[in-house]
Amino acid sequence: MKPDRLADGVYRVAAQIGNRDLFEGIWPIPDGVMLNSYVIKGGNKRVLIDLVKDWDGALDAVDQQLESLSLGAGNLDYIIINHMEPDHTGAMAKIVAKYPDVQILCSDKAVSLIKHFYKIEKNVRAVKDGETLDLGGKTLQFFMTPNIHWPETMMTFLVEDGILFSCDAFGSFGRYDACFDDEQSEESLVHLASETERYYANIVSSFSSFVIRGIAKLDGLDIKVVAPSHGVVWRSEPKKIIDWYKRLATYMQGPREKEVAVIWSSMYGNTQALLSSIVEGIKSEGLPVHVLQVPQTHESFVLEKVWRSEGLVIGMPTYEYKMFPPMYHVLDILERSHVTGRKTLRFGSFGWSGGAQKQFDEFSTAMKLDCKGVIEYQGSPTDEDKKKAYELAKAMAKEIKG
Ligand SMILES: Cc1cc2nc3c(=O)[nH]c(=O)nc-3n(C[C@H](O)[C@H](O)[C@H](O)COP(=O)(O)O)c2cc1C
Ligand SMILES: [Fe+2]
Ligand SMILES: [Fe+2]
Repeated sequence: MKPDRLADGVYRVAAQIGNRDLFEGIWPIPDGVMLNSYVIKGGNKRVLIDLVKDWDGALDAVDQQLESLSLGAGNLDYIIINHMEPDHTGAMAKIVAKYPDVQILCSDKAVSLIKHFYKIEKNVRAVKDGETLDLGGKTLQFFMTPNIHWPETMMTFLVEDGILFSCDAFGSFGRYDACFDDEQSEESLVHLASETERYYANIVSSFSSFVIRGIAKLDGLDIKVVAPSHGVVWRSEPKKIIDWYKRLATYMQGPREKEVAVIWSSMYGNTQALLSSIVEGIKSEGLPVHVLQVPQTHESFVLEKVWRSEGLVIGMPTYEYKMFPPMYHVLDILERSHVTGRKTLRFGSFGWSGGAQKQFDEFSTAMKLDCKGVIEYQGSPTDEDKKKAYELAKAMAKEIKG
């Protein structure tokens, strides 16, 4: 790849990561992910914002682009670390070895993380909230935005050009050959939309209250370009991605989309036998419904749809006196991601004494789900069970429709 020019003396140096690995060791990336770093040449100072992990050729790719921008060995004044997660710092020791006198600027909390992760203490300096750094003709300003996505996170604003280097915030999964939002094809924009929602739900959702606080903090800034460390650079519509993140963050407390996510598992078809009644009941009120079979659908995609939806239906049988294990795992992920308050139904089959419902009730309480009904039956469902399922699903959909 070649560096992409954002403004005079401002470049993105990016790496495209393929789909072989799971992101954070959990989340599939069938279309890969971008790792974006940024270079600023201001006056006589040279700055690199956020790094990469030595992953799928990323370090070599970034290295080559730095060389092409005349940032050869020793020729760098500052490294800015907005966020310590290894996708943005994994190659830190190697990069610092190339620029031994470089100054590393980061948040207060990042100082000890740098020490413990990379054993680097020399030339590391914490910046304060709102502090500015004069590069000669270009000014950087730092804003502490904790917990988007680790406690040490900050953002860096290039004042003269109005560029916000936001790291994980405003990011997306997926690889994009073109750097900017306005360079994407129609097809790429559709992909970007779902990969932004999935990235948010998987990586950021549990920090939604901090996202809302962080965005409020940026309110007074004249942001002309949003430059995240994953995904594309938003220059034609910087407000679009900020407002989009605000909406995604709002899904935690609500309001959410008038949609229903139906997650179901079945070993021998007895639980599945009720699925069509549930789906038809929801559809009869005209609501969009996302039907997701577990474990066949990875929790990454389940969480994406559950995050946005006001309605949640869980279908699963009893397994060894408890919930069907893959559904337990999915509910654990949903609970950790702060999925709360959904209007909910549960259905499922058992063989002799059940047990799934008891364990589900614990999740329901912990997640403050607004449970609208349960259809549980021994063996296969009766016509009466099917009718009840249809009616309960319809009533819930009607309530969501408002
Ligand atoms: C490995 C296994 C464990 C089960 N454990 C229980 C159990 O502890 N209690 C119970 O009532 N039924 C248990 N069952 C019976 C199932 O809940 C029952 O067959 C149900 O109809 C399965 O629904 P499905 O066809 O949707 O998979 C178990 C079934 C299997 C295969
Ligand atoms: Fe992160
Ligand atoms: Fe990241």
